[in-house]
Amino acid sequence: MYSTTIVHYPGGEYPIHQGDGLLSRAGELTAELIRPGLAAIATNPAVGALYGDTLQRSLIGAGFAPVLCEIPEGETYKNLSTVAGLYEAFATAGLERSSPVIALGGGVVGDTAGFAAATYLRGLPLVQIPTTLLAMVDSSVGGKVGVDLSQGKNLVGAFKPPLAVIVDPAVLATLPAVEFRAGLAEVIKAGIIGAPALVEVLEGSGESLDWIIRQAIAVKVAVVEEDPYEQGRRAVLNLGHTFAHGFELLSGYRMRHGEAVSLGMVAATRLAVALGRCPPELAARVERLLARHGLPVHPPDFAPEDVWEAMAADKKRRGGRLRFVLPEAIGRVVVADDVPKEAVLETLADLQRSTSPCLSVPPIL
Ligand SMILES: NC(=O)c1ccc[n+]([C@@H]2O[C@H](COP(=O)([O-])OP(=O)(O)OC[C@H]3O[C@@H](n4cnc5c(N)ncnc54)[C@H](O)[C@@H]3O)[C@@H](O)[C@H]2O)c1
Ligand SMILES: [Zn+2]
Repeated sequence: MYSTTIVHYPGGEYPIHQGDGLLSRAGELTAELIRPGLAAIATNPAVGALYGDTLQRSLIGAGFAPVLCEIPEGETYKNLSTVAGLYEAFATAGLERSSPVIALGGGVVGDTAGFAAATYLRGLPLVQIPTTLLAMVDSSVGGKVGVDLSQGKNLVGAFKPPLAVIVDPAVLATLPAVEFRAGLAEVIKAGIIGAPALVEVLEGSGESLDWIIRQAIAVKVAVVEEDPYEQGRRAVLNLGHTFAHGFELLSGYRMRHGEAVSLGMVAATRLAVALGRCPPELAARVERLLARHGLPVHPPDFAPEDVWEAMAADKKRRGGRLRFVLPEAIGRVVVADDVPKEAVLETLADLQRSTSPCLSVPPIL
């Protein structure tokens, strides 16, 4: 059993198939969309060792001739040298314009292989098979692909709508707990942006992981369909991320992205309270939810002015403005780029001072 969501974008659409065990049907799902022939599987050694065989067998069964193209493990290899390595591998294998690249892995594999697919021969079809929670609910949906430069993350990239996304939640069984938690931060983000029912489930219990992933994907799909090229509404997906980028930079990138996003959502919600945009109870609720899922709600001892500088430096590199996404209610957020610096500094100072969740509400568990 599996379900399919269709994502529309200007000039086309693509399916997101989701269901336990779908990895072993990736070949037939791909063959529904493209004539079988040569295909590249891009993965890293860890994911390849776990799931490469299943995918390869499935592709062969559907008539494809897969070639395995491994990229090194880790964010430090999400760069142009790795992309060049993939180009070489594609050329050696003799990939043609119609040969699909199948990205099997987390966001690093999806972004890197996706960028190689977007550019080799001016674009090959791309199938995303995300294997982390973050990649399932965030990076594999929406068409953004790209790599890092030494000057900053994701500075080179493209919009590359995939041919299909295949989500098999069963592969999460092998995902390390810290990676799972990091993905949960983005799931919670999706709930706060647009899915009150998802937040309620995460506050209690009763729904499967499959359902939770489906709800989070639905939020991302709705936002990217409204703003496929990131010109407006898509900014809401950056809830917690302005602060998070500052925290990450200040920690020398030792803080994990999901942890930074958790702290960033706490800060953003408290900022919304300070600006009179939402009631204090909302901040307490968000902090309790994050803490319940093992995510941090108290930032390390960073000076507010340093966090501000780090956020400003990050924004400058991306050529954007320092804007904050502010929750007004669960399921409703607004984008503000006129937030006074003093309010931000005061919120950060307040966050440093607090040693227990906002309003000292006891955790659920
Ligand atoms: N394109 C986008 O729109 C977008 C959105 C959000 C994030 N991103 C990018 O995503 C990247 C982060 O992705 P991530 O969090 O998936 O990290 P990741 O790709 O580094 O994967 C995390 C770790 O989990 C391992 N792993 C993956 N799947 C596994 C499995 N099923 N079982 C066991 N181990 C597994 C990986 O080998 C890796 O060590 C960042 O580079 C970020 O910039 C992109
Ligand atoms: Zn993120």
